[in-house]
Amino acid sequence: MTNPAYPALRMRRTRATSWSRAMVAENRLHPTDLIWPLFVTDADEEQPIATMPGVSRWPVAQIAERAAEARDVGIPCIALFPNTQPDLRSDDGTEALNPNNLMCRAIGAIKEACGSDIGILTDVALDPYTAHGQDGLVSGDGQVLNDDTVSVLVEQALNQAHAGADIIAPSDMMDGRVVAIRAALEGDGYTNVQIMAYAAKYASAFYGPFRDAVGSGGLLKGDKKTYQMDPANGEEALREVALDLAEGADSVMVKPGLAYLDIVTKVKARFEVPVFAYQVSGEYAMIEAAAAAGAGDRDALMLETLLAFKRAGTSGVLTYHALDAARLIGDL
Ligand code: PBG
Repeated sequence: MTNPAYPALRMRRTRATSWSRAMVAENRLHPTDLIWPLFVTDADEEQPIATMPGVSRWPVAQIAERAAEARDVGIPCIALFPNTQPDLRSDDGTEALNPNNLMCRAIGAIKEACGSDIGILTDVALDPYTAHGQDGLVSGDGQVLNDDTVSVLVEQALNQAHAGADIIAPSDMMDGRVVAIRAALEGDGYTNVQIMAYAAKYASAFYGPFRDAVGSGGLLKGDKKTYQMDPANGEEALREVALDLAEGADSVMVKPGLAYLDIVTKVKARFEVPVFAYQVSGEYAMIEAAAAAGAGDRDALMLETLLAFKRAGTSGVLTYHALDAARLIGDL
């Protein structure tokens, strides 16, 4: 086989110098592409998370400083996750509805320090509050109940909105929760509170370190396969996205990230909406472990994977690397 265009066409010509590579680059990472998930604790001290080296749970007294750091490097939004202490967990997760719970206090502290300079995204699901670690209410025979759970999730979302949340992000994968939450938000006057739906959320093995971080890992019996999606399915993700958009979601999320970039691309091609991806805890741990083992350069692995999300068509990515990545991008 001969290449009829060679040598007139040489793909290496535009790659030959750094200025030329910069000139033809199709995608560029920017701090506004990043959302930083933060864990909050009732403890007095920072608590490092063993399975996520470099990530800690922060006391409410220090959470606003973290948010301010994010704001100062141009990150537009943080996501909050509480580590609810065991004695406040219950089978029905009612601590999620407490207006003075850890999540609400963290929102208040950040709002007081940062005002509207940075967005606050809050996760709607019961797993940080339940004694069994499932995202919803569980019946006597072990079923995760859909409609009863949705009623509680609506109250949880209103509790977060009342505390000052800017983006409500239902991660529970119950059917019909987006329309119910939207109606309740409208009814209470929260017309500008957004909904980012975890629309295509898979039952993934990559969530392990997160469950350690919020303290639900050791509690969870069984799995979440009756509500989170089967990793075998792609078309089903498009149905989930279509439904959540019809129900009033302002943006949608695909989760996990790297192993599901095909879903991001399909969603972006089909729907004219902002698409986000969540580079989850296990992905973070994988990159850190690879770097620690000498299998790759940590910063390079971090930036290359984040750029992949951009290339796939996301408007942004939730990543535990957000602060470090934003700082690196700023220095480049
Ligand atoms: C709660 C929730 C989970 C994650 C985000 N929200 C865990 C789960 O569904 O079990 C995982 C995030 C991560 O792994 O970084 N429903």
